[in-house]
Amino acid sequence: MTSAEMIAAHRAAVGADPSSTRCPIMGTYGPPLVEFVRGEGSWLWDRDGRRYLDLLSGLAVTSLGHSHPEVAAALAQQSQTLLHVSNLFATEHAPVVASTLDRLLGGGGQVFFANSGAEAVECALKLARRWGPAAAGRYQVVSAWGSFHGRTLAALAATGQPAKHEPFQPLPEGFRHVPFDDLEALDAAVTPDVAAVLLEAVQGEGGVQPASVEYLRGVREICSERNVLMMVDEVQTGLGRCGAWFAHQHAGVRPDVVTMAKALGNGVPIGACWATAEAASSFVPGDHATTYGGQPLATAAARAVLEVMEAEDVVGRSTRAGERCTEALTGAPHVVSVRGRGLLLAVELDVPSADVARELLDRGVVVNAVTPTALRLAPSLLITDEELDTGVAAVLDAAALVADRTEGGTSR
Ligand SMILES: Cc1ncc(COP(=O)(O)O)c(C=O)c1O
Repeated sequence: MTSAEMIAAHRAAVGADPSSTRCPIMGTYGPPLVEFVRGEGSWLWDRDGRRYLDLLSGLAVTSLGHSHPEVAAALAQQSQTLLHVSNLFATEHAPVVASTLDRLLGGGGQVFFANSGAEAVECALKLARRWGPAAAGRYQVVSAWGSFHGRTLAALAATGQPAKHEPFQPLPEGFRHVPFDDLEALDAAVTPDVAAVLLEAVQGEGGVQPASVEYLRGVREICSERNVLMMVDEVQTGLGRCGAWFAHQHAGVRPDVVTMAKALGNGVPIGACWATAEAASSFVPGDHATTYGGQPLATAAARAVLEVMEAEDVVGRSTRAGERCTEALTGAPHVVSVRGRGLLLAVELDVPSADVARELLDRGVVVNAVTPTALRLAPSLLITDEELDTGVAAVLDAAALVADRTEGGTSR
């Protein structure tokens, strides 16, 4: 199908005039490839009833698979009990979720609830401005080239991808970037005007690039020495995805600030920014707020998600499944290498990854091309061995087919 045909089909499916070329949704995303109508566990179904194995989890969001019964039950119950009252009042689940997150992060901290990853990062960036006495000119945030922190203006300014900055200049000032995983560069960049360092422990959108354990330890030392906040963006990597509750824990370091979102609601929008009590105390009432932050429906989902994650040992499962997947792919034809941690993996191929992703979709397997040569795999942390093996076999078949086609000069 061409893009125009897909837009027309999508318009027809949503009841809009298929002959019009104007889609009712703003053109910030490419045309949809498939319309999904249902999901269960690691599987999705399209409008025609065709089944797909989901190895992407809506970009590392549905870590417990689709329609998890305990999350669904918590949502159903909460929707009939109380939906919203605002942060002028207390509600049942927010403090429980905050306490669980604090425990998983080692304790002694506090949580601000947001509605997305970018908003969780925005909270961290505002906290950094409060931490560094702005009057003393201490407000710079150092982040890494290749990083991704979201699309709000400040999160975009922290994002280390010039092509994404380009259309939105001038961006907020106070951001500087250094090469990722390069301690010397970071050391030089953390000058007296810096309030915080913001990093991903594994760069997700940047191509699934893990930071070394030594780097994260070195960053911790530099930040501690200079009284600068070490902020780790775990929006994609957190909550078991990388074979630890949070990916930075592989390095045994304790950041001052950790952001998270995606898996926290298993598809229900919620984000969170955790900070040590000392860092969090930089905020005073009125400094930061959001109408929906910590609201009952989102925190009911998050509470159920965390309970299932602990009961199901998602950290152990993600570690074991990641190893199984890496083992099966490493050294296979057309696989150059496999990198990542736990169940956030990039499969580096010797054929164009977009062609392989497209071929996989045609065969009923969902992945994404995270770089022109690498596929990202981020399946449900509850995926079975059988499902994982099916997915791995499909990736290898699709890569072989694309390679044959390319050699035959018929690459699409
Ligand atoms: C590390 C990281 N931070 C922030 C974000 C932004 O999250 P959201 O899209 O929920 O705003 C993302 C999204 O992919 C991310 O991977």
